[in-house]
Amino acid sequence: MGLSLALHVLSIIIWVGGMFFAYMILRPVAASQLEPAVRLKLWRGTFGSFFPWVWVAIVLTPLTGIMLTSPYNGFGNSPVHIHIMTTLGIIMMLIFMHVYFAPFKKLKQHLDAGDIPAAAGKLNQIRILVGINTLLGGLTVIVATAGKYYLL
Ligand code: HEM
Repeated sequence: MGLSLALHVLSIIIWVGGMFFAYMILRPVAASQLEPAVRLKLWRGTFGSFFPWVWVAIVLTPLTGIMLTSPYNGFGNSPVHIHIMTTLGIIMMLIFMHVYFAPFKKLKQHLDAGDIPAAAGKLNQIRILVGINTLLGGLTVIVATAGKYYLL
């Protein structure tokens, strides 16, 4: 249980914290200081290094989460904040997989082909989706932690 909780929270810190840093800190600085071609290369490299960590997190999060339901004797008897956390977590995972297999893949293809405007369009899609996932991640952390005090 202790190890599961530690791995669960570590995975979330890496995933949600990484998105927060990318969206709130790096994005505005890169947008204000770098030309589109350089900026797109920076994001390609940044996502290329960050996304493998997200894959690890999205494998560990549900696995450890399921183990953490054992005190409740499984999902069926778990309180409502666990169900909300799981639902939001699944939505976040689906959004990430879409980002990875659709706009991120296209971003790399457009950059390899030297098509900067098309690559910029894909980066814009990733920006919106990572923004949504950052919000959902923050909301899920609130539900996961405060939820047990305020929800049934
Ligand atoms: C995807 C499936 C997930 C499952 C099955 C799951 C399940 C669980 C369970 C059973 C607990 C123990 C909570 C308790 O006993 O009150 C827990 C804790 C926690 N979960 Fe999740 N979770 C999932 C996803 C997420 C996501 C996506 C986040 C955040 C973005 C998250 C954040 C947390 C945090 C911060 C805790 C620690 C809460 C505390 O100890 O106060 N979980 N999770």
